[in-house]
Amino acid sequence: MDLLLDINVAVNICAKRPAYYQDADLALAKCRQEGGRLWLYAGSVQTLEYVTRDALKHTFKAEGQPITARQLHYHTRQVLKTFAEDKQWLAALAAEGAVFDSEDPEDEQLIRALDRFGPGTIKLLTRDRDLCDQYPERTITPAAYLAQPAPPRRLDFIDLAAQQQHLRPQLERNLHRVLHHGQYILGPEVRELEARLAAYTGGRHSITVASGTEALLISLMALGIGPGDEVITTPFTFVATAEVIVLVGATPVFVDIEPDTGNIDARLIEAKLSPRTKAIMPVSLYGQPADLDAINAIAARHGLPVIEDAAQSFGATYKGRQSGNLSTLGCTSFFPSKPCPSVAKPLPWPQPDRTSVFAQYTLRVPDRDALLARLQTAGIPTAVHYPVPLNEQPAYAHLGCTDCTPVARQMACEVMSLTMHPALSEADQDRIVASLQASRIPGADRDLAFGSCRNLSELVGNHVCLLLNESVTIRLRSRPTPAPPPPEARPGSMPTMTR
Ligand SMILES: Cc1ncc(COP(=O)(O)O)c(C=O)c1O
Repeated sequence: MDLLLDINVAVNICAKRPAYYQDADLALAKCRQEGGRLWLYAGSVQTLEYVTRDALKHTFKAEGQPITARQLHYHTRQVLKTFAEDKQWLAALAAEGAVFDSEDPEDEQLIRALDRFGPGTIKLLTRDRDLCDQYPERTITPAAYLAQPAPPRRLDFIDLAAQQQHLRPQLERNLHRVLHHGQYILGPEVRELEARLAAYTGGRHSITVASGTEALLISLMALGIGPGDEVITTPFTFVATAEVIVLVGATPVFVDIEPDTGNIDARLIEAKLSPRTKAIMPVSLYGQPADLDAINAIAARHGLPVIEDAAQSFGATYKGRQSGNLSTLGCTSFFPSKPCPSVAKPLPWPQPDRTSVFAQYTLRVPDRDALLARLQTAGIPTAVHYPVPLNEQPAYAHLGCTDCTPVARQMACEVMSLTMHPALSEADQDRIVASLQASRIPGADRDLAFGSCRNLSELVGNHVCLLLNESVTIRLRSRPTPAPPPPEARPGSMPTMTR
């Protein structure tokens, strides 16, 4: 749970008021420890400064320390600056301005500001008894907060709130700028984004559209691909990749994948070309570019365009070049859970000529379902990208290729993703690692080895390596598992819907 700090609590701490300071300070520490955020209301800055200065003046006086008005002013600012450093500023919105009918406009503003948060996710930390009596569900005193048992710590697979923390001031400023100029469609921000995307990727042109799916669809349309045409692609991807091929009336031709990257295996493409082939559409999966030089060479030999589906790899590089600018056309997605290179923490595991933005942290685990169950019990979020290759799903059964990608089938049975984002705290990383340590899965012959795993060429075949932080590495070794049965015999096959 988050806490919005009433001025009285902030001032108690800033002025170190003896009778009140300690429990307020402990309450803030407890909130931080439990993963909550501490908020200061931006509309209260002037009052905060005024009241803190007054409180500090009294403290100096009580201690018999002389201080000039100028020194007091400077000292107050310094104290507030330090205090605000690990807090979030909650913007004052227009709807919180019209509070003059209220008995206490300042309290009214704070209570209204709480409305922006989900139910039960924030309370106003205050010493104001009247306010607590009036709003018992929305307020809490430091003492009552300290007496509350800690809720179980929740770890989310996608934690946009944690990531937003670093970006909120810019996000709010830019959103407000758009609201004020009112050019919602093709306004100056769109032009700026396109120019910056082109500069970042090195592409000649960058065109923004509504979604990654639409970008793929428009690319196919721009290339004139339609009924009777074939497009080479991977079956191990999000549904959008193949769906757009069908949407233009063409046919996806599925090529199997590489076991170590999950990307389309370029060595198998040529065998699937036909006179109807009009394009190759590789996906740069899990944050790592596909082997685009090899794919481009095949395309060049056959006069075909290549559309890179870079929805999961924006910011990754291939031989020093940016994903999205590695082929005829590149398409990416800004779906909220997609990786953002400016904030992504690079971790190893990609091929030596590539960097990855680790869209998720995806592992291959032979006894995946047992591990998933254990991690779920331990409250560790996981996802499976992807449980069924596209060619094995009913929508593509008519293509007669349900058995033609054995590596993808094997991967679909073994892959699982752990959460991966730059705001993942060390404590949460340790919690994930500890749960994996505890998850010795019965029935498989495996070692759990800890230590540094710098030789990344080890990470092939049935090795699984986690490098969740610099110091902790777990390596699971397992016997190869037999190939799974064909899809008809697999109960619970689900469509590939996870993004
Ligand atoms: C590989 C891949 N292609 C295409 C898309 C579609 O992007 P969007 O969700 O922006 O339509 C996604 C993600 O959602 C994806 O992961």
